Amino acid sequence: MRTLAFASIKGGVGKTTLAVHVAAALADAGKKTLLVDLDPQGHASLMAGVEMNSDDPCIGDSFGARPRQKLADVVRSTSRENLWVAPATNRMVAAERDLFRWGHRLQAVPRAVSSLPYELDALVLDTPPQLNAYTEAALATGNVVVVPVPAMAHALQGLDEIRFAWKDVTDGRESAMIAAVNLWDRRTSATNAAMEEAFREMPVPMAKSRVLRAEALNQAGLAFEMVYEYSPSSEVAECLKKLAAELWRLAGKFAN
Ligand SMILES: Nc1ncnc2c1ncn2[C@@H]1O[C@H](COP(=O)(O)OP(=O)(O)OP(=O)(O)O)[C@@H](O)[C@H]1O
Ligand SMILES: [Mg+2]
Repeated sequence: MRTLAFASIKGGVGKTTLAVHVAAALADAGKKTLLVDLDPQGHASLMAGVEMNSDDPCIGDSFGARPRQKLADVVRSTSRENLWVAPATNRMVAAERDLFRWGHRLQAVPRAVSSLPYELDALVLDTPPQLNAYTEAALATGNVVVVPVPAMAHALQGLDEIRFAWKDVTDGRESAMIAAVNLWDRRTSATNAAMEEAFREMPVPMAKSRVLRAEALNQAGLAFEMVYEYSPSSEVAECLKKLAAELWRLAGKFAN
């Protein structure tokens, strides 16, 4: 199984958009994929078509010394073949402190997943825009940690913090961190020249596939759809599939 974790302490950079579309692209390529929503905001769950009431079983319920739910009872199917979701609810805000106190937060995801009565090919983790217990659990679990970097001012802000936290929690386990440029706009040539200059200072390698700034992607998000359905022949749909393939190959170097 290969695990991709999307993380950044910056908000609104595209963690959820990229995580959901990469998960769906892997599913469409035939990989049995579980999208794990570790953000109590639950946007990834919604974007994958899973609506939640606050008392519905969520991924947070399958963590801890005595989990309230087995992961198998939390996982929801989607309208997409090969794509399942372990959804989040806002109850996970309060439960985050319990996860911290438990002492095994870094093992929370693999422990829960190992209880599943079936095998998966891919695990895709979405995280909140903070360095909390959920984010640390994801950083510790990813074969590849993907940090979306928006092509705009202060793009690299927060990258060092997430990199140091990743180093801290991986404890010598081999994994990779990679930056994925998002919101790339070919038309803004002066901005792009400045961005290329800034990217030279990038403290982690950059994915070759950049994700274009695209109104179709934003509109799809507003409609709680994926761009593959909303605008299947769009260029941004192609970029996202290419990014998924690139990340899948990279994760293969580190997965068991
Ligand atoms: N390449 C893109 N083109 C156009 N809009 C985009 C693109 N990437 C993300 N967006 C839009 O930017 C907004 C923020 O994206 P998203 O929710 O994925 O970020 P996030 O990092 O998960 O945010 P948060 O930190 O709140 O979890 C959304 O409205 C999304 O539709
Ligand atoms: Mg998000």
